[in-house]
Amino acid sequence: MNKSKIPVAQKDVLSQLLDDHKKAKKLFKEFENTEDDARKEALAREVCMELTAHTTIEEEVFYPFLREHDPEEFGDLLNEALVEHASAKELIAQIRGMGMQDDLFEAKVTVLGEYVSHHVKEEEEELFPKVISKKIELRELLTPMTERKEEALQSAVA
Ligand SMILES: [Fe+2]
Ligand SMILES: [Fe+2]
Repeated sequence: MNKSKIPVAQKDVLSQLLDDHKKAKKLFKEFENTEDDARKEALAREVCMELTAHTTIEEEVFYPFLREHDPEEFGDLLNEALVEHASAKELIAQIRGMGMQDDLFEAKVTVLGEYVSHHVKEEEEELFPKVISKKIELRELLTPMTERKEEALQSAVA
């Protein structure tokens, strides 16, 4: 999805979500490309933390807002998104308890990357275009989303 084409009413919020998607994809790619065990572990920890913060803002701010705005239009898509988040979170919880010494560590991170790329594609090709075509005013979400994300990242570090 091309940020420059997003109308102003949706731009900041969708751009923030798109930036998160891009960052996660980049971390997964680097994970696949590095040979260094310590680096792989650090990248896996980082991507788990980023995805946790990202799913938190979607589940606590973005998705409920859309559902309330138009339950008919968004209900099914958001339900699917929640199920996909739940699968990702399950895998994230397992990955957090593992390291390179575990046989399935790399496989689990790779599969998490596949789940995420599928989910991100649905958001970017179905959900976000619908938000744009329905001309939903998202600007009021920017501050709560930014604040909630900050909190989620801090509690992940603590
Ligand atoms: Fe999502
Ligand atoms: Fe997302």
